[in-house]
Amino acid sequence: MASTELSQSQNFSMAKNNGRSRPRGFLSDGVIFCGGALVAFLVVWAFWSFFSPSPSPTPSFSTSSFRLPQGSDTSAAAAPSTSCADDPPEPNFYDDPELSYRIDAPPVKNWDEKRREWLKQHPALAAGVENRILMVTGSQAKPCKNPIGDYLLLKFFKNKVDYSRRHGIDIFYNNVLFQPKMFSFWAKTPTVKAAMLAHPEAEWIWWVDSDAAFTDMDFELPLDRYKAHNLVIHGWPNLIYEKKSVFLMRNCQWAMDFMDVWAQMGPQAPEYDKWGEIQRTTFKDKLFPESDDQSGLVYLLLKEKEKWGDKIYVESEYYFEGYWMEIVGKFDNITRKYMEIEKGVGGALRRRHAEKVSESYGRVWEEYLKEAGYGRESWRRPFITHFTGCQPCSGDHNQMYSGQTCFDAMQKALTFADNQVLRNYGFVHPDLLDPSTVDPLPFDYPA
Ligand SMILES: *[C@@H]1O[C@H](CO)[C@@H](O)[C@H](O)[C@H]1NC(C)=O
Repeated sequence: MASTELSQSQNFSMAKNNGRSRPRGFLSDGVIFCGGALVAFLVVWAFWSFFSPSPSPTPSFSTSSFRLPQGSDTSAAAAPSTSCADDPPEPNFYDDPELSYRIDAPPVKNWDEKRREWLKQHPALAAGVENRILMVTGSQAKPCKNPIGDYLLLKFFKNKVDYSRRHGIDIFYNNVLFQPKMFSFWAKTPTVKAAMLAHPEAEWIWWVDSDAAFTDMDFELPLDRYKAHNLVIHGWPNLIYEKKSVFLMRNCQWAMDFMDVWAQMGPQAPEYDKWGEIQRTTFKDKLFPESDDQSGLVYLLLKEKEKWGDKIYVESEYYFEGYWMEIVGKFDNITRKYMEIEKGVGGALRRRHAEKVSESYGRVWEEYLKEAGYGRESWRRPFITHFTGCQPCSGDHNQMYSGQTCFDAMQKALTFADNQVLRNYGFVHPDLLDPSTVDPLPFDYPA
C-alpha cells in the first residue's frame, strides 16, 4: 500500500513503537482471493436478500458457518479455517457477554490480545492484515433537508466506493447514531469503535466524512510511514487547528483508550460543559462554546502529548485532506498537465488495462509525478478534497460563498474523480461541470 517515494516528513513525535503487537507471518496471496470472495459473497447476499421474501439462507454456500443460526451446522469447524468465510466454533471475544460496542461503555480491555487470538483462529484473514484498511463513513438516517442533498451524498459515496474498489478496501457506510446524543461531528467516535470490533481483520480504520471526495484515485496511503503511530490526521505546518474530516486509526488498544477519553468530551458525557470551557480557553479562535470533537482531538494532541501525542502522526506532506476552496480552481490545469505527460510518454500510461490492475499503473505514474511534489504548490492531483462549509445535506452552507459555488465545486471535483475511474471503462466526461455527458475514448488515447 505504501508509496515509498514519499520521504519521511514532519513527524510529530520521535516515539518508538510501544510494543503494540501485530500478528505477522501469515503472508500469502490468500488475502486477495478472500477479499474478492468476501465482496462476491456480500453482493450475492445483498441481491439474494433483496429478492427473497423469506429470510432463510440458501445452501448455495458450502461453508456452514456463514449461515444464520437456525440453519447452523458446525461440522466444518475444528481445524483452523482456510476460508475467509469460516468462523470456527472455539470461543473468542465475541462470546464475552460483557463486550460492549457502545462508546459510553467502559473501553474494551486487552484488545490487542483478543484481536490477535481472533486472527489466529482465522489464518485466511490474518494473511496481509498489517495493510488492511476498512473505510468508515456515513450520513444521517433521514432524508437531507437540501433537495439535492441526497443526490450529492450518493455521488460522494460512489466516489468512495470507486476508490475502495480500486484499492481492495472494504467500506462501511453508517446511517445511524450509535449514541443518539452524539450528533453531527460527534457521530464518528461511536461508529469507529463499533467498526473496530466488527472488523478485527482490519489493521486500520479510515474515517472519511461524507462530504469529502477522493480526487486522486491512484494515490495510496503511505502506511509504512505510520508504522510507529496509531492515529494519523492532517495538518499543514502552523495550521494544526484546521477542520479534520479524515483520520486513520489503528485497530488497537491504544485507539480504544483514546476514543474513550476523546468521547468523554462529547454531549452524552457529564463533563461536556467543562470541556467546552477548557477548549474555549485553550483555543482562542474557537467559534462556538460547546465542546467539539475537533478541538478535543487537538487538545489531546497538544496538552496530553506524553500520553497521546506521541502516537499521533500529523501528515503535512500531501493532501491527506484539503480545503476545496484552494483546490477546485486547479483541476483544469492538473488535467492538462497529466494529459501532456500521457501524450509525451505514451507506453504504459496510455495502455488500456483492467481496473483490477490499476494500482500497478498508478505506480508507473509516480515516476512522472516526482517533479510535481506534493501539497499546495503541486500540480499533482490532490488526494482528498473536503467540502468544509458546503453542507451538502442540510444546504446550510457558509455565507462566505453561494450555494451555487459550492454545488459547482462539488460537481467538478466528483466529475474530475469520475474521469479517472471511467478511463478503465472506456469513457470520459469532456466537461467537468457536466456530469451526464461522456465521450468514448479512442484506442491509445490521448495520443
Ligand atoms: C493554470 O495555468 C496557467 C498557465 O500556466 C496559469 O496562468 C494559471 O494561473 C493556472 N491557473 C491556476 C488556477 O493555477
